[in-house]
Amino acid sequence: MTETVLLVGGGGREHAIARAVAATDADLYACAGNRNPGIARLAAGFESLDTTNPAAVTACAREVDATLSVIGPEAALAAGVADALDDAGVYAFGPREDEARIETDKAYQRRFMRRHDIPGCPDFETFENTEAACEHIDEYDGDLAIKPAGLTGGKGVRLIGDQVTAEEGKAYIRESDYDRILLEERLVGEEFTVQAFVANGQLRVTPAVQDHKRAYEGDEGPNTGGMGSYSDAELELPFMDREDYREAVDVLQATVDALEGYKGVLYGQFMLTAEGVEVVEFNARFGDPEAMNTLPGLNTDFLDVLVAAREGDSLPGLSFAPKATVCKYAVPEGYPTDPESGARITVDEGTIDRVNARHSGESGAGAAADGAVGSRVILRYASVDERDDGIYTTTSRAFAVVGVADTIAAAEEMVEEALDAAGDGVRIRHDIGKPDPVQQRIDHVTELRGER
Ligand code: AMP
Ligand code: GLY
Repeated sequence: MTETVLLVGGGGREHAIARAVAATDADLYACAGNRNPGIARLAAGFESLDTTNPAAVTACAREVDATLSVIGPEAALAAGVADALDDAGVYAFGPREDEARIETDKAYQRRFMRRHDIPGCPDFETFENTEAACEHIDEYDGDLAIKPAGLTGGKGVRLIGDQVTAEEGKAYIRESDYDRILLEERLVGEEFTVQAFVANGQLRVTPAVQDHKRAYEGDEGPNTGGMGSYSDAELELPFMDREDYREAVDVLQATVDALEGYKGVLYGQFMLTAEGVEVVEFNARFGDPEAMNTLPGLNTDFLDVLVAAREGDSLPGLSFAPKATVCKYAVPEGYPTDPESGARITVDEGTIDRVNARHSGESGAGAAADGAVGSRVILRYASVDERDDGIYTTTSRAFAVVGVADTIAAAEEMVEEALDAAGDGVRIRHDIGKPDPVQQRIDHVTELRGER
């Protein structure tokens, strides 16, 4: 039987998922609020709809006779789209609303960790009362992270002693009208992500990735959804050793053991500190941009994972190409605080093809441009909207270029060559994956470990 997969979501992460599904025998359909030209090209059909409307998504799944679905964005999970699809008989690779609380409710997430004794949980307290939270800031011995309990697209956190002073932190809490605030120990170290495919009580892990949350080069400016990311040709990153990676995997394993019936991707955001690996947060889906680093190297058939998950079978072991990746996002001017939406942008796909041709000796687009073999660059469209007369920005990240090569440095150089494809009206963090910032991270961890 040919499987029909409905992909929910229209960002760069979903373009990467679409590519992984399109490489299998499955028929791919997609739905999203924006028309992502990259996904639309790979799919047999693309429907524009509100992906936080469970009835609209299930109607779309029925229309295309979907036998499987993959949900990209957290907002859809939080809205119960996986529940609705499951209930309609279309297996959703993505957790039900209740299980997605591991991401959507940060207070729940920390209490869950404490209750199940999951390693790597920082000190924390939750508050419903603004003044009680402010008092805790005054009394606490050390720096705190201020985190709204609900979803904020990665932009709600304020770090005392880093981004804000204690006074500014209190003013932030008083000005914003968050219902619940989490105050937790500020972790100091280097962040990394490990994502796992989870179903039937099993997990299958993927190589570590480092995202860059801050808007500007040198890790300055406000937090964003992620400006870009890199991964190495092995499981760990240059500033980690295998033991650190294993510690993170142990945390994910303990979490999966404690979460009954969880399915989809479990994403661990970790901080490698002087004391070891601590948990910054869990997400209930692939990371964006991290999915763009992880999926191009996945040699295992993505459909096999989805079908095994649905059938209650053992998940296949995963195999990854030994390649490093660097991903850089182009974002609208003003992103994240005041993004210029509705601006027409150009992406010269010919540039991407020429870089690939130069590096592979092969001609033109096709498999090389979309990522089949060897060293290459890949274009991923994200939160843009394709209309009759061109591609327009929305309020979020526009497109990404991903380089895949033997080393991080080589992948980074290829991305920079390919970024000539970007026209005006977008901004890029060019420092991501360059040798100096990568070395600084190694030095940072060496220094932290020396202090221990
Ligand atoms: P989140 O909204 O949980 O994704 O957090 C956004 C970013 O805030 C994380 O990627 C970290 O860089 C930072 N962050 C969150 N919690 C902490 C913490 N306890 N200590 C230090 N940084 C944190
Ligand atoms: N890259 C961070 C996230 O997907 O939440």
